[in-house]
Amino acid sequence: MFITFEGPEGCGKSTHAKRLKAFLEGKGYQVVLTREPGGTQVGKNIRDLLLDPQSVLDENTEVYLFAADRSEHVSKIILPALESGKAVISDRFIDSTLAYQIGGRGLPEDLVRYLVMVSSKGLMPDLTILLDVAPEIGLRRATKDTIADRFEKEKMEFHQRVREKYLEIAKADPERIKVINTDNREIDDIQEEIRCRINEKL
Ligand code: TMP
Repeated sequence: MFITFEGPEGCGKSTHAKRLKAFLEGKGYQVVLTREPGGTQVGKNIRDLLLDPQSVLDENTEVYLFAADRSEHVSKIILPALESGKAVISDRFIDSTLAYQIGGRGLPEDLVRYLVMVSSKGLMPDLTILLDVAPEIGLRRATKDTIADRFEKEKMEFHQRVREKYLEIAKADPERIKVINTDNREIDDIQEEIRCRINEKL
């Protein structure tokens, strides 16, 4: 079982991914929790380059770096774990590239979709939880105690476009992508809804 968490900045996916891991382990599954970018050793260096607010990157360089990170991640972490019968939860995967690089940056859809397909080796999640949040709320949450990274520093319109693209992708694939709104909701309440979705799939 391959589950991914997606969503705009500050949507709470990392918290929920950790909680879901504990829930699945309680059911007897062996679970690998990983993330993009930065799920591998090389990926950690790529992540630093991508998120450093001082990095000045061309938009194409940016999408190639995400593709390189994913290629490493899929071949070294995700596929071996799935092949050995473990469940994998990834905090971000292919839909982040579609939402941020097509929606946010405005890169051509065919170029980005091609890079996504090649870098993921065609691997698709069995289930994607899209935690939707209004950008004003999410960004406030994400930057409360930390310095804004290169993406969090982007204009509000960028984050609006990311959110809209996510919702568009979800609408096109309702079987795989389940949208859960998180605006002004308690963490426990959201986690409960996530577990319902997982149980349906199991
Ligand atoms: P996060 O792990 O804290 O969510 O930060 C990762 C950032 O990278 C986040 O702003 C989304 C962005 N991102 C992309 O723009 N494209 C991608 O393909 C991925 C995986 C992440």
